[in-house]
Amino acid sequence: MKVIVVKNASELGKQAFDLLAKAVDEGAKTLGLATGSSPVELYQEMVASQLDFSQMTSVNLDEYVGLSPENPQSYHYFMNQHLFQYKPFKQSYLPDGQAKDIQAECGRYNQILADNPVDLQVLGIGQNGHIAFNEPGTPFDSVTHEVALTESTIKANARFFDSIDDVPKSAICMGIANIMAAKEIVLLAKGESKAKAIKAMVEGPVTTDVPASILQKHPHVTVIADQAAASLLK
Ligand code: F6R
Repeated sequence: MKVIVVKNASELGKQAFDLLAKAVDEGAKTLGLATGSSPVELYQEMVASQLDFSQMTSVNLDEYVGLSPENPQSYHYFMNQHLFQYKPFKQSYLPDGQAKDIQAECGRYNQILADNPVDLQVLGIGQNGHIAFNEPGTPFDSVTHEVALTESTIKANARFFDSIDDVPKSAICMGIANIMAAKEIVLLAKGESKAKAIKAMVEGPVTTDVPASILQKHPHVTVIADQAAASLLK
């Protein structure tokens, strides 16, 4: 696992973009994408760049169950806002949170991942070491599955919705085995709130208590962290 420490968020976006541009230059066909605050500067760099993604495929990590793509809290909406409206891909896949049969949708998504092997996967990390919605305790051999959101996540998300009852109760999310199948992984982390998780991921034991720690076993991972997120590293 290679760790690059950068001064600030804009530097983080530039470094991540350089890795992504190199992968594209070397023939990457499929990018694995994430939502949340961590990749925002990377997406800004992609939008500002000359790179053309119109012949490429993207697959996202996750989507809330029950939200339509038009819902501003959905991950479909986030990706359109930050990237796809400016830089369309030939095909962009996200789990269908409105699928009637969620189990069937998980199976469909696993098939999409099998048909479109990810060349470069962008990840963020949760304060508890989660990757995608794979919370502590998730088996390392998990594939796309439905995850019940914890009470604390539901409460934390309630501020974005009219009422707490509107907050999704679950999400569809790639499993840890799907994430590990990517040829290359770039994990982005900003801010002091991520420092403990970064230390546990890089220096701690490989354990399902810290889902991101499995990345130690992946042959091609680059962690790009700002100084605050890297502050507890030896
Ligand atoms: C995003 C995702 C999450 C986030 C993580 C960090 O698709 O699945 O695992 O990457 O929660 O979130 P931010 O980047 O907002 O700190």
